[in-house]
Amino acid sequence: MKHIDIATVLQDKTLLGSKVTVCGWVRTSRDSAAVAFLELTDGTSFSRLQVVVDKSSLSLDPECTKCGASVAATGVVVKAFKGDGAELNAESVTLLGRCPNDYPIQKKRTTLEFLRGIPHLRLRTNMFSAVFRVRSVAAQAIHRYFHENRFYYIHTPLITASDCEGAGEMFRVTTQPWNAAYDSEEAYYKEDFFGQKAGLSVSGQLEGEVAAMALGRIYTFGPSFRAENSNTTRHLAEFWHVEPEIAFAELPEVMEVAEDMIKYVVRAVLEECPAEMDFFERFVENGLKAKLSNIVESSFAVLDYTDAIELLKKADVKFQFPVEWGCDLQTEHEKYITEQVYRKPVFVVNYPKEIKSFYMKQNADGKTVAATDLLVPGIGEIIGGSEREADPDKLLAAMQARGMDLASYEQYLDLRKFGTAPHGGFGLGFDRFVMYVTGMENIRDVVLFPRTVKNIM
Ligand code: 4AD
Ligand code: MG
Repeated sequence: MKHIDIATVLQDKTLLGSKVTVCGWVRTSRDSAAVAFLELTDGTSFSRLQVVVDKSSLSLDPECTKCGASVAATGVVVKAFKGDGAELNAESVTLLGRCPNDYPIQKKRTTLEFLRGIPHLRLRTNMFSAVFRVRSVAAQAIHRYFHENRFYYIHTPLITASDCEGAGEMFRVTTQPWNAAYDSEEAYYKEDFFGQKAGLSVSGQLEGEVAAMALGRIYTFGPSFRAENSNTTRHLAEFWHVEPEIAFAELPEVMEVAEDMIKYVVRAVLEECPAEMDFFERFVENGLKAKLSNIVESSFAVLDYTDAIELLKKADVKFQFPVEWGCDLQTEHEKYITEQVYRKPVFVVNYPKEIKSFYMKQNADGKTVAATDLLVPGIGEIIGGSEREADPDKLLAAMQARGMDLASYEQYLDLRKFGTAPHGGFGLGFDRFVMYVTGMENIRDVVLFPRTVKNIM
């Protein structure tokens, strides 16, 4: 059907006085004996288009005034009665699809919890359509940032035989019948599709390193899967993961790229989604826009893990999890550091080697690794990264200390055998990033169909 976007009608001043056709869904309507007003949205902009129907010259199907109905309207674009926008004086309004009264998205305010139960319809609300426009703009900005800085976009496999983080949180991929009986685990997997145990990748990093050791700077942007049994507001079983990997980079350069990328994308969202950001500021997080402008303008803090522990020990707060050098930072600790102390993003660096992955570069102190997590107010960790261990002997020792099966990492070890070089990278949880820029507090509300423990609607 030939028509133009409502965003174009609202923005393009040269259309005033011309006749156009728009298509959209009715958000609200006011109907009187002489005139009817339909507010239409087609998803292209936050603002809606008001369609004015002079009932003395046009008979309007009452179904066209129902919330949720889809219609096509043709008419002349005129200056809006209020404000400096545009509206449409209708010459014809055609019903495309009726919408009965049990449509669950009505004008009255509903709860996010209720909307989570109707993931197929919630995008039609102001809030969710705004979240997904911002999500798209942020994703495009990430690609643009890397492209402009000569990072090549790599597609790493989703099905894998190795567990990158070594944390055993992989979903299994199998074609075995549910009641298959075998003498041993080995015999069972031998009969399976790949002839060995396979799963969904938790990270594209190890393959990303392969590409970085040939192309210099690369990134991946795709789904990662974690079978973590964590039912929290920031964990998904399937999340979108941005993972750059940089050859010849040490930890400070990795952090520089992370900070630069975040600032670039935040700036893009502020510039390209002003109406959405105004909405989030008003209805989701008071102070959001100032928070984000601040991000763009000031430097992120850097805090050594050891100093973080001292800071937490001195804190005038009773934490649920006790703090000792060597412990992993819990969300409550991360939030204290970034919300109470720094009030901005903080890179925590140089974690104890025991709580981090085998591939991280071992520091000279023999106790810590050149790793960093970026913590932000409201969420905690949004980035995990490190310089990688480039020394083959040290890497091997770290793997042996963890009792890893070396045979399945032969190719990874080859990267250290043939022309090894310092390199590093990080992983950004894209869904968490979208939470951060929109102010949404639950990760389930920034994903189309969230997959979480016991939930796959
Ligand atoms: O800290 P993580 O586990 O690091 C890695 O996977 C590294 N291989 C990345 C790298 O260096 N290339 O995960 C990176 C980020 C986290 O900081 C978090 O933002 C996000 O991925 N993340 C999740 N997001 C949503 N749901 C989950 N279950 C997540 N697990 C990690
Ligand atoms: Mg992490």
